[in-house]
Amino acid sequence: MKTKSIWGNPPKRLYKLIQRAEKDFGKDFTTCIVGCSDGKFLMPFARKGIKVIGYDIDDIALYGGIKLFPIVPQKVKYEYQKNFKSQEYKLEEKRVLGITERIEIEKLNKYTEIEKLDFYKNPPKQKYDVVFTSCSLHYSINKDFNLQEKTEMLQNIVNKNGYLYIDYMMAIEENDYELYPKNKFYRKGEMLKYFDDSWQIISYKENNKPSFEGAHVDCVKDHFHRFGYILAKKVK
Ligand SMILES: C[S@@+](CC[C@H](N)C(=O)[O-])C[C@H]1O[C@@H](n2cnc3c(N)ncnc32)[C@H](O)[C@@H]1O
Repeated sequence: MKTKSIWGNPPKRLYKLIQRAEKDFGKDFTTCIVGCSDGKFLMPFARKGIKVIGYDIDDIALYGGIKLFPIVPQKVKYEYQKNFKSQEYKLEEKRVLGITERIEIEKLNKYTEIEKLDFYKNPPKQKYDVVFTSCSLHYSINKDFNLQEKTEMLQNIVNKNGYLYIDYMMAIEENDYELYPKNKFYRKGEMLKYFDDSWQIISYKENNKPSFEGAHVDCVKDHFHRFGYILAKKVK
């Protein structure tokens, strides 16, 4: 039985990355998802029979439990304003599946390894052919490391000829270091500075404008994000 992530379906970019890696390595490659949450980005690898390890620190995302969801009577999309104030939504409790439960239900244990680990405090020694993280860097528990250090920790676990993919949060107001501290939110062009000539940049995009996100589990007020992503290959 196919299960679902509470975060919805992965973007096409993820499937393109899997195809690219399969073209290079066949099925015989290793993947690491840093901040695997309930498996949105991990399950597609395992379902294809690719070995994948996931690290996270969130017990409910790992093992399942109760989360609070906002009750949004009518979805409204707002335009960005610097001092935007969201309305308050009532909350309801729902039981959500953790990644280990999803793996069990889909019988994918053979391909997966899940570990509760604070990745940036205890980066593993092992290297992988594909390393993937989506929006883990800005979490407050990672505030003791600057963005260069965190980016390098991800780079350090990529095998030669392997790939690194990062979705990251950018400062909506580039000069506001209070709302958007510099160890959490990348400034325009900053990410590229951390990739030296041992990396080939395959794709890279930084949005100029923030995008609206309606209230959701784990962030129960309407809010805005500005995203960037990078896919790079370790060539040296
Ligand atoms: C934003 S979520 C990923 C799923 C997501 N909501 C999405 O759709 O992109 C990021 C995950 O990274 C995890 N994370 C953040 N810092 C971490 C760390 N130091 N070690 C392991 N996991 C971490 C969080 O617990 C969270 O589950």
